[in-house]
Amino acid sequence: MSSQIDHLLSESRRFAPPAQFAAEAVGTTELYERAAADREGFWADQARELLHWHTPFTQVLDWSNPPFAEWFADGELNVAYNCLDRHVEAGNGERVALLWEGEPGEERRITYAELTEEVKRVANVLEGLGVGHGDRVAIYLPMIPEAVAAMLAVARIGAIHSVVFGGFSADSLRARIDDAGAKLVITADGGYRKGKVSPLKPAVDMALADRGSGEQETVEHVLVVRRGGNDVEWNPERDLWWHEAVPAASADHQARPFPAENPLFILYTSGTTGKPKGILHTSGGYLAQAAFTNRVVHDVHPESDVYWCTADIGWITGHTYVTYGPLANGATQVLYEGTPDTPHPGRWWEVIQKYGVTIFYTAPTAIRSFMKIGREVPQRFDLSSLRLLGSVGEPINPEAWVWYRNIIGGESAPVVDTWWQTETGAIMISALPGITETKPGSAQVPIPGITIDVVDDSGEHVGNGNGGLLVITGPWPSMLRGIWGDPERYKETYWDKFADKGYYFAGDGARLDEDGDVWLLGRVDDVMNISGHRLSTAEIESALVANEAVAEAAVVGASDETTGQAVVAFVIIKQSFLKAHAPEGLAGTLRTWVGEQIGPIARPRDIYIVGELPKTRSGKIMRRLLRDVAEGREVGDTTTLADTAVMSVISAQLK
Ligand code: WTA
Repeated sequence: MSSQIDHLLSESRRFAPPAQFAAEAVGTTELYERAAADREGFWADQARELLHWHTPFTQVLDWSNPPFAEWFADGELNVAYNCLDRHVEAGNGERVALLWEGEPGEERRITYAELTEEVKRVANVLEGLGVGHGDRVAIYLPMIPEAVAAMLAVARIGAIHSVVFGGFSADSLRARIDDAGAKLVITADGGYRKGKVSPLKPAVDMALADRGSGEQETVEHVLVVRRGGNDVEWNPERDLWWHEAVPAASADHQARPFPAENPLFILYTSGTTGKPKGILHTSGGYLAQAAFTNRVVHDVHPESDVYWCTADIGWITGHTYVTYGPLANGATQVLYEGTPDTPHPGRWWEVIQKYGVTIFYTAPTAIRSFMKIGREVPQRFDLSSLRLLGSVGEPINPEAWVWYRNIIGGESAPVVDTWWQTETGAIMISALPGITETKPGSAQVPIPGITIDVVDDSGEHVGNGNGGLLVITGPWPSMLRGIWGDPERYKETYWDKFADKGYYFAGDGARLDEDGDVWLLGRVDDVMNISGHRLSTAEIESALVANEAVAEAAVVGASDETTGQAVVAFVIIKQSFLKAHAPEGLAGTLRTWVGEQIGPIARPRDIYIVGELPKTRSGKIMRRLLRDVAEGREVGDTTTLADTAVMSVISAQLK
């Protein structure tokens, strides 16, 4: 790790924005000045300028009961009205909101007027099903316009959505439905992935079937979009087709105002324990920071730009930078259903050329896999419309950054590396593309209105040139308001570590360079980052030990050239199982098992079957040593192991 850090920090290339870009950029140095002079006043200005308030707020921040923040609490707004109706009322109803491209190549252009009408109908359907203010709705959909419409319809009626990534298994879906107590599930028969229909409704049926006795089913209805055309089972008392219910509903629907702190959504993310955390976000502060960052970091000019964020709506990036930020700003955006390489490896570049995309936001893993395929593929397409590139989800290595800028960005488009989390709700650290001289590999500086630091274990500033832990030193509008149903875990996870300072602990290691710019170095806890997706070691371990063959399991994130990190599992097989079964093919069986339990993204790259695991005298697994093995390094210091010979046994077994 340390040689990698030295390598990163020796990066000396700097890129100033093109003069014309700088002249027309939305983000200006005045924003930093204004925010430094009066941080709360600054956010109040943003919230007033960027959003419509049915009832204007008079209070900005209430931090009287930390770590429970309230922003703009006496104000009232409707999130969906802000993303839809007000643009129509302002005369922009004919502007395209969504340029949708299906994986097989179908195209739908949906204007703000059309999307508003659709969302009003869906809102009426939901209310007709008895869903109302504060109820939870699970959304399990592919990347189709109905996904965005469903989220906005839930927001419109003051209910709370919990979007579950379509790649998650029936078990994961069920755990999320149960934790939130969802009343309705919105899904599709299936969606296109890698050239075929990947079914979704069967997973919903499985999730809702075989409930243990005494468990109360909270789900009353399942609303199903027809997309894949695949056969599905039907429960007439519970299931409704979207294409029957929605067109039949009225297109009149008044957007009622809700308090700024009305919950907007829950989004589950992996923590350090096996149970995913339901991160709770509310309305006014979240939307204000989503809209602000999309404007100034992505430099969105809604009247002229074509914006494309490739994230799935199942992740926070899809919430903030597909649904809420761009639509609050009245932007035109591309929504693409499928995978980047179907039916050919240039699919994304073809989409950029076809729609004249000007702003493109994606993850380093994608960039690295395109680098691997070679520049010839993107060079076959006209990418000259691109004027800004963004990166999110994991550290971007300087080589990938420079390749992105040169090959995709025509050697001129600024690249903004944006650091944030499900918990922060919106971008926190990033260059502003019209102002900052960018440095490949560094996320650089907090955005205006955000205060951060890099500190040592006792919370002291480490100073330039040093590494430590990333903290956020003051509350921010789009911060999580808690963990659904678990206020203690919220305090414990994020605030207890630096309780005396009142700092938010992000769980990331970081370093400040000589200019004071921030370099993110990855997680410092047992959370892995696979292709920009968070997975917990504990969650995969508990899936493994749930298999009848497994006695014990330890999982580590090992560095991987393309996906950033990869899941590597070490498992001990039960003696009783080995007596009755042959061990051949067991690793493959367990890989598939994990995929079924959690979802394909969690499938270990490697599974090593071992006789023992390295443990300290107190019984804690020393993952550091397993990581050494997984990454092919010399095994580090083993003196604290209960049995110091274990590692040589394991290493020998794997040779
Ligand atoms: C990592 C995704 C380095 C980080 C928006 C964080 C990053 C976790 C960056 C959150 C970046 C995100 N550079 N690391 N630009 N962006 N991360 O909740 O470890 O899926 O804590 O949110 O991703 O992942 P999440």
